[in-house]
Amino acid sequence: MIKISDYPQAPRSVKQQFDLSGRIAVVTGGAGFLGRQFAEALAEMGALPVIFDLAVTQPGQAAEAVREAFGTCEFEEVDVTSEESISAATNRVLERHGRIDILLNAAGLTKYGCDAEPEVFFAPFETSSQEVWDAGLKVNLTGLMLCCKVIGADMTTRRQGVIINVGSDIGVISPDQRIYEPDEATGFPGVPFNSPTFYAVSKAGVIHLTKVLATQWAPQGVRVNAFSPAGVYRGHDEGFVRQLSSRIPLGRMAVVNEFKGAICFLASDASSFMTGHNLVMDGGRTVW
Ligand SMILES: NC(=O)c1ccc[n+]([C@@H]2O[C@H](COP(=O)([O-])OP(=O)(O)OC[C@H]3O[C@@H](n4cnc5c(N)ncnc54)[C@H](O)[C@@H]3O)[C@@H](O)[C@H]2O)c1
Repeated sequence: MIKISDYPQAPRSVKQQFDLSGRIAVVTGGAGFLGRQFAEALAEMGALPVIFDLAVTQPGQAAEAVREAFGTCEFEEVDVTSEESISAATNRVLERHGRIDILLNAAGLTKYGCDAEPEVFFAPFETSSQEVWDAGLKVNLTGLMLCCKVIGADMTTRRQGVIINVGSDIGVISPDQRIYEPDEATGFPGVPFNSPTFYAVSKAGVIHLTKVLATQWAPQGVRVNAFSPAGVYRGHDEGFVRQLSSRIPLGRMAVVNEFKGAICFLASDASSFMTGHNLVMDGGRTVW
């Protein structure tokens, strides 16, 4: 328990609470669709984002774009499923900057990053491939856990740090498979699609891991929260958009840059009394 005499000072201005100047922020999956937005948001508020991502086609491109727009961003080639790869990159960041203040775990296995054919990736559970299940859990849950372990270990030693784990609305509720019915949603370019079972299960694991680590590391001053967005519009077909939107009280999907403020809230002192929380930003979908 914290002694009353050691309580933090009265809140500073709101602008100061959100200020991330000088903070070093690792963003896994930062070259991706949402990850890049997250890196941009942190850079805009003064942090130095360091993207940890695979050497996909043009790995440094996302970092370069963030740097051009916001003046600062670095890239490290990392496979989050390998503790060795995470440790090596973490050590390089620590050598350069001396510490990591923020870890934002956004790497995830989506169809965009999976080698499996769409028919295999989106196969119904009864005929689903264990390879896809294993690959999905390996990135979404085990990889995220390894990043928490390696970077969290350094944070606990320094007795300070913030971790944000990206979950999903369907880590909270079961995906409603009716929205993927073929006559409504014609597909993910051209094939029937759905939400593969591994995905929701892995995100439920992410949310629970967040709670476990939050309580374990609270005494060391490390906060751990989850952030769970609902589906973001990315050129999906109209039938699917209509189906999903009808299950969302705000009547639409999210747009890609809509989560920047929430990420800065969780990363900054504005959320200093929050740990173990899952911030759901879903247009109200999980309320129904
Ligand atoms: N887009 C959405 O609608 C949505 C909704 C809810 C949650 N999410 C979650 O948000 C996060 C980002 O999603 P996105 O839409 O940007 O996906 P994306 O596929 O565009 O990006 C994922 C990124 O993770 C990286 N990645 C995959 N495997 C990796 C590995 N082994 N090591 C390092 N990096 C790896 C990819 O290279 C890619 O840059 C994911 O965790 C996803 O599950 C997305």
